[in-house]
Amino acid sequence: MENTPNIYAACFSPNGLTCQLVQQITHHIGHFIQVQTITEWNFTLPSKRTTPLQAKENDWVIVGLPVYASRLPNLLLPYLNSWSGNGAIAVPIVTFGNRSYGNALIELKELLEAKGFKIAGAAAFVAEHAFAHNLAQGRPNSLDLQQADTFAEDVYKRWHAFPNHLPSITVPGIGAPDYGGYYQPLGEDGSPVRFLKAKPVVTKEKCRNCEICANVCPMGSVEKGNFGNVIGICIKCNACINACPTNARSFTDEAYLSHIRFLESHYASNKAKNELF
Ligand SMILES: Cc1cc2nc3c(=O)[nH]c(=O)nc-3n(C[C@H](O)[C@H](O)[C@H](O)COP(=O)(O)O)c2cc1C
Repeated sequence: MENTPNIYAACFSPNGLTCQLVQQITHHIGHFIQVQTITEWNFTLPSKRTTPLQAKENDWVIVGLPVYASRLPNLLLPYLNSWSGNGAIAVPIVTFGNRSYGNALIELKELLEAKGFKIAGAAAFVAEHAFAHNLAQGRPNSLDLQQADTFAEDVYKRWHAFPNHLPSITVPGIGAPDYGGYYQPLGEDGSPVRFLKAKPVVTKEKCRNCEICANVCPMGSVEKGNFGNVIGICIKCNACINACPTNARSFTDEAYLSHIRFLESHYASNKAKNELF
């Protein structure tokens, strides 16, 4: 039917947690607005970022990305900027690994508004840190998923009360033009470290040439057949390391490892909370 809204679960999620939360929220909202189908719009892999999302006026788009260095992953911005909202409803979601979501949520909200979406709610959820499993380990847990359902219901109710005049949503943080810049990683001793060029290495004896690493890399940077060779950009998402069935991949870059030790000593015992708007 012409006016039946489409509801999109749109996510970038190298390790799967952001998509898990987006799907939870999308299915719950979909239940209230009685959509027949949910369109999965998982744009993690490069092959899925060739078509821009073009929403129609009555559509809903739940959009999730992980926080990288207190901001949205910068290499995703050109793709997000190719989208058109056409007055559709959007719900920006970011996930963060126990430290801080910085200015990523306001960045995503403002980007979606600039693309012509209307914002019905926004949230930052805690998710296990891809660098270090003891940061927010096991999150999102069952309580987080319950909170995601409550959030979805609240967003629906807000829209239902004012379908044509959604109240404006305020989220904390520094907005345009620079969103506070990117977080400067610190090493174990608290001094700045740089590891932009670090890439995972492969222990040859452990590698079974299964290709999983190449198939999960969101930048398409792992060379097929020569899996130790990272030919393109590495965004340090850790998808290849976490997906490797034989633990053959790891980072050995000392600056990167020192930053992980810094994070573990400062944020492992942090009890970060989800923030819902
Ligand atoms: C490159 C990189 C930078 C990150 N920066 C931050 C950060 O600034 N603050 C924070 O709390 N978590 C940070 N994290 C943790 C991620 O937000 C967390 O791993 C993410 O929620 C995982 O999402 P995914 O499972 O969908 O990949 C970072 C993770 C990566 C890989």
